[in-house]
Amino acid sequence: MSYRVGVLGGDGIGPEVIAEGLRVIEAAGVTLDTVDYDLGGARYLADGTILPDSILDDWRGLDAIYLGAVGTPEVPPGVIERGLLLKMRFELDLYVNQRPFTTPTHDFVVIRENTEGAYAGEGGFLRKGTPFEIATQGSVNTRMGAERCIRYAFELAEKRRKHLTLVHKTNVLTFSGDLWERTFNEVAAEHPDVETAYNHVDAACIYFVDDPGRYDVVVTDNLFGDILTDLGGAVSGGIGLASSANLNPARTGPSMFEPVHGSAPDIAGQAKANPIAAILSGALMLDFLGEDNAAARIVKACEVATGTEGSTSEIADAVIANL
Ligand code: IPM
Ligand code: MN
Repeated sequence: MSYRVGVLGGDGIGPEVIAEGLRVIEAAGVTLDTVDYDLGGARYLADGTILPDSILDDWRGLDAIYLGAVGTPEVPPGVIERGLLLKMRFELDLYVNQRPFTTPTHDFVVIRENTEGAYAGEGGFLRKGTPFEIATQGSVNTRMGAERCIRYAFELAEKRRKHLTLVHKTNVLTFSGDLWERTFNEVAAEHPDVETAYNHVDAACIYFVDDPGRYDVVVTDNLFGDILTDLGGAVSGGIGLASSANLNPARTGPSMFEPVHGSAPDIAGQAKANPIAAILSGALMLDFLGEDNAAARIVKACEVATGTEGSTSEIADAVIANL
C-alpha cells in the first residue's frame, strides 16, 4: 500500500524537520508517494504566489498533506496565515485540530474547532485610517460546526479514559458559549459513559499548569484552542514536541499534519530545530491513514529519544535507532 502525500516543508525550519519526519516514516517501513509543493513566505516574496486554485484542486485528490511551517517575518502578518494555512484548513474542511500532549507525566489531548470562531474572517473596517476608525472581528459559531467537533471529541474520549472537558467562556460569551454548552450537553446525553466537565478558559490555563492530570480530552473553540495548545506544549516538554493533526474526519478529502511550532527563522538553517514535533505529526498521519502499527512504533521511539541532545538529524537518527 502506498499513499499519495503532498509535502509542504514551507519556511524556516519547516523543510529541515519535515525531511527528518519523512526519513523516520520510511525507516518505519511505510512507503509514501510524495509530491513536493514550494509554497510559503519565501515563495510569496519570490513571485507573489500564495495558494493557486490549481494546487488546491490537486490537494483534494491526495491521501494526506505533511506540512512543516509557513511564514517569514518579511511578509506582513496575515498574508500567508490567511491566504495559505487557514485557506487550506477551511477549503479542505479540516474541522478538527487534534493536538495530543503525551509525556511520562502528561496524557491529554485538545480538540480544537478548526474552521470557525474568530478565525472565520468575519468583520471589517469602517473609516479606516481616520480618528473615527472602527474595526470589528466577529466570532462565527454554527450549530453544525460546534456539533461535529464536539461529536468527534466524545468519540475520542470513548476510546481513551472516557473523560471530556468543554473549555469556553460562557460567563462572558453568552451567545457563542450558550450554543457550545447546549450542544455539548445534548451530545453528552448520547454518551452516558463519558464523564464530562466544564472549565472557563482562564481557569483552564491555571489547571493546565497546576493540575493537568484532571484532563483526558478537552474540546474548545478555534481561538481558545490556539492559545491553550501553546500552553499545553509549554507544560508538557516544550513546543518542540507538540504535534497536530488537522482532520477531515468525514474523509471527503485529505487531512493535514503539522507540528504546532512555527518556522522559527532565528534558528533556521543551523540544524538546531527539534524534529520530534514533526516526526510525531508524521505518526499522526500514518495513524489516520490506517498504518497504526508503524505510527505506534514511531511514538514509542520518540519517547525513548526524548531528551536526546544533538542536531536535527542526530535526534532523528536516535528515533530511527529506537524503532
Ligand atoms: C497554529 C498557528 C496558526 C493558528 C497560525 C500560524 C495562523 O498558530 O496552528 O496554532 O493560529 O492557527
Ligand atoms: Mn497557534
